[in-house]
Amino acid sequence: MTADFYTGSIVPPEDLWFRDEFIEQLWEKLHTEHVLLTAPRRTGKTSVMNHLRERPQSGRLVVFQNVQDFKHPADLFQTIIENFYEQHPDFLRDLAGKSWEVLKGLAWSATGKVKEIETGGVKIVLRENDPDWKANWKTHAEELLNRIRKSKKPVLIIVDELPDMLLNMKIDQPQDARDFMAWFRKQRETPPPQQDNIRWLVGGSINLAGTLDDLGGIDLINNLSTEKLPILTPEQVREFVAKMLSGKGIKFHPDVPSLVEQKLGRPIPLFLQMATQELYRAGKQSKEEITATRVEKVFLSLITGIGAQDKLQHYHSRIQKYYPEPRASLAHKILNSLSKSKTNGLTRNALKTICEQEIGTQSHSFQRDLLFNKIMHDLMNDFYIGEIKKDRFDFESGLMKAWWKKYYG
Ligand SMILES: Nc1ncnc2c1ncn2[C@@H]1O[C@H](COP(=O)(O)OP(=O)(O)O)[C@@H](O)[C@H]1O
Ligand SMILES: [Mg+2]
Repeated sequence: MTADFYTGSIVPPEDLWFRDEFIEQLWEKLHTEHVLLTAPRRTGKTSVMNHLRERPQSGRLVVFQNVQDFKHPADLFQTIIENFYEQHPDFLRDLAGKSWEVLKGLAWSATGKVKEIETGGVKIVLRENDPDWKANWKTHAEELLNRIRKSKKPVLIIVDELPDMLLNMKIDQPQDARDFMAWFRKQRETPPPQQDNIRWLVGGSINLAGTLDDLGGIDLINNLSTEKLPILTPEQVREFVAKMLSGKGIKFHPDVPSLVEQKLGRPIPLFLQMATQELYRAGKQSKEEITATRVEKVFLSLITGIGAQDKLQHYHSRIQKYYPEPRASLAHKILNSLSKSKTNGLTRNALKTICEQEIGTQSHSFQRDLLFNKIMHDLMNDFYIGEIKKDRFDFESGLMKAWWKKYYG
C-alpha cells in the first residue's frame, strides 16, 4: 500500500509519514503544558493537528479551528462552541445542562443526538441569544471554559493560525489584540496546566513572538511551550521520492531521489509532493525510466507553471500586507538580492549594505541598524530566510529561491 499525493490539503493520519515521533512528543508535552506549534506554511502543521484530533490520546476530547481570517475573539469562541456542537454534541449538551442562556434554542433531540442544523446555524442561534456577543465575548468564553473545567473531561482546544488573527485585529484595534492575549494568558495560568483539564495547542505559520513583539507583548506567551515542527531531513526527502515512485510502479534512475532533494533545498513538504507527483505522472505517461533530465524539467515547470504559482506568490504578497513601510520594500530588496546569490547565500554585512543603499544615509546610523535588524528578525521569524552557516544567510527553501529569482531577482 502506498500513500496518495496531497498537494495542499491535509494529509490524513494513515498517509502522514515522518511525524510519528513528533506527534508522540507533542502528546507528552501536552500532558503538563500548553503548546505553541510553529513552522512555515505548507510544511504539515495542520496535518499534525488533524492527527491529534482524529487519533486522540488519553481520552482527550479534541476540537480544532483555523482562525486565520478571524478579526475578533468573539469569532473564535463562537466557532469553538459550533465545533463542539458539530463534533461532540453530547458533551456540549451535558455542558449546557439546563441553564446556559447563550445556547438556548440549539436543537438537542430526545435521543441525545443533535438535530441537523444548517451550516452557520449555530452561530446564528448564539448571536440571537446575545446580540451583544462581540462586547460580551469574555463572559461567554469564561462561561464555556468554566463549564468544561467543571466537567473534568480532558479537552484539547486547537487554535490554528492564531498569529494571523492577531495581525488582523492589530490592523484596526491594536489594543484589542493586546487585551485578548492578556486574557488568554490568564486563562492558561489560572488554574495552572497541571490542575487544568483544558489544554491549548496554538499553531502559527508566522512567528507569534514576532507578532507580539510589535504589540509590545512578548511576555504574553511565555507560558506557552514552543515546539517547532521538524524540517524533513535529506534522508526523509529521498525516502519519500523513492517510496512514492516505486510504490506506484514507476522506474527511476538511482540518482533521482537525491537530485530532487538538492533541487528543493530546505524542503517545503508541499513542494516535495508536487515535484514527486509530476515525476510520477511523467513516468506513467512515458512508461520509461525517469532520468535526471526529467527532474530538471519538472522543477522548471514547477517554477513557471500555475500549480505552484499562487502558493509561491502568497509568500511575496504577504510582505506587503503585514510589513509596514519601509520594511516591506527593504524586505523585498533583501530577498531579491538573496535570490540571485550562489548556494552559500550572502553575509549579514552584504545585506546591510544593500539596505543602506536603499535608505540612504539621512537617518542616524543607529536607526538604520535598528531597522535592518528588525527586518532580518522578521524575515527569519516568518521563515523566509535562515542563517545557513555562521554569518551567511539564504532562502529557507531552494524552490522559493529559484522562483523568486525568476520573477523578482
Ligand atoms: N509528513 C508529510 N510528508 C509529505 N508531505 C507533507 C507532510 N505533511 C505535509 N505535507 C505536504 O504539505 C501540504 C500542507 O500540509 P498542511 O498540514 O496543511 O501544512 P501547514 O498547516 O503547515 O500549512 C500537504 O498538502 C502536503 O503536500
Ligand atoms: Mg495549516
